[in-house]
Amino acid sequence: MNQATLNVDYGYYGYMEEKIEINEKDFPRIIDFIHDHNGMDLSAYRQNFLFRRLRLRMLATRTKNYQEYTGLLERKPDEFNKFLDALSINVTEFFRDPDVFDVVKKTVIPELIQRKEAGGNKVIRVWSAGCAYGQEAYSLAILLKEAVSERPDFLIRVWGTDVDGDALEKAEKAEYRARDLKELSKDIVERYFSRLNDESYRLKEEITDMVKFQRHNLINDPSLKFMDIIFCRNVLIYISHDQQHLLFHKFSEALHSRGYLVIGKVETIWEKDLFVPVEPKQKVYQKVK
Ligand SMILES: C[S@@+](CC[C@H](N)C(=O)[O-])C[C@H]1O[C@@H](n2cnc3c(N)ncnc32)[C@H](O)[C@@H]1O
Repeated sequence: MNQATLNVDYGYYGYMEEKIEINEKDFPRIIDFIHDHNGMDLSAYRQNFLFRRLRLRMLATRTKNYQEYTGLLERKPDEFNKFLDALSINVTEFFRDPDVFDVVKKTVIPELIQRKEAGGNKVIRVWSAGCAYGQEAYSLAILLKEAVSERPDFLIRVWGTDVDGDALEKAEKAEYRARDLKELSKDIVERYFSRLNDESYRLKEEITDMVKFQRHNLINDPSLKFMDIIFCRNVLIYISHDQQHLLFHKFSEALHSRGYLVIGKVETIWEKDLFVPVEPKQKVYQKVK
């Protein structure tokens, strides 16, 4: 990674060329600095991703080099939070990639229900890991609620976890703008959402009661356990290969035998000995044993 030169749009100031003097040697020093002062281990993230986010913060704070930025971190501890916020890319939506949810609906859930029935355990536990504002966790709750609508003997529990506390607060509120619901069928909106005003809706308690949100760092915190389905989508892209490897092992331990792992469409599973593909295109996998 070489010294970075950036073209920056300063709005009405027009384009300015800004030189940020940060190079390969400084980068680990910033990671160490943040670790020593804040306890956050950033070495798990992909270096390119971190570098891009760091540059954004340096531009926003008009600091030009390692010394200036760490000096600012020392003077204004709030900058730690802003930097960590810059690492959280919370883009998400209800039923993101509908074909993935379709596979879960048509293949995963029926197989799971059949197996649970045969085993006499009628609890289905689902984890949306890296859930951002909650749409993924709630989509899974809606999907499962619909799937067991004729089966009151089944109990569904969904966990939504994320490292970003602000995102989780919003998830817990379960309030969404009308435009966030535009991909949902009218039927689903009418059944599971209450209209608050022209602009916003809130999910009904029959769905929110199924979901528990919890702050959780996939890299540092002990894994949740006894899951039947894990969704970890569009999170792995930010994480280094070494950490992904550890995470796939954690997910395997977190799943019941023959549980399902669903990752993002652009993400890849390396642990062929732990998971077999169910639908490779939709990145739906099943734990080997
Ligand atoms: C792009 S969103 C994905 C949301 C959802 N899974 C989806 O696919 O629509 C990525 C989320 O991962 C979270 N995240 C990043 N690193 C994490 C970590 N180490 N532990 C838990 N969550 C993390 C971010 O805060 C962000 O909310």
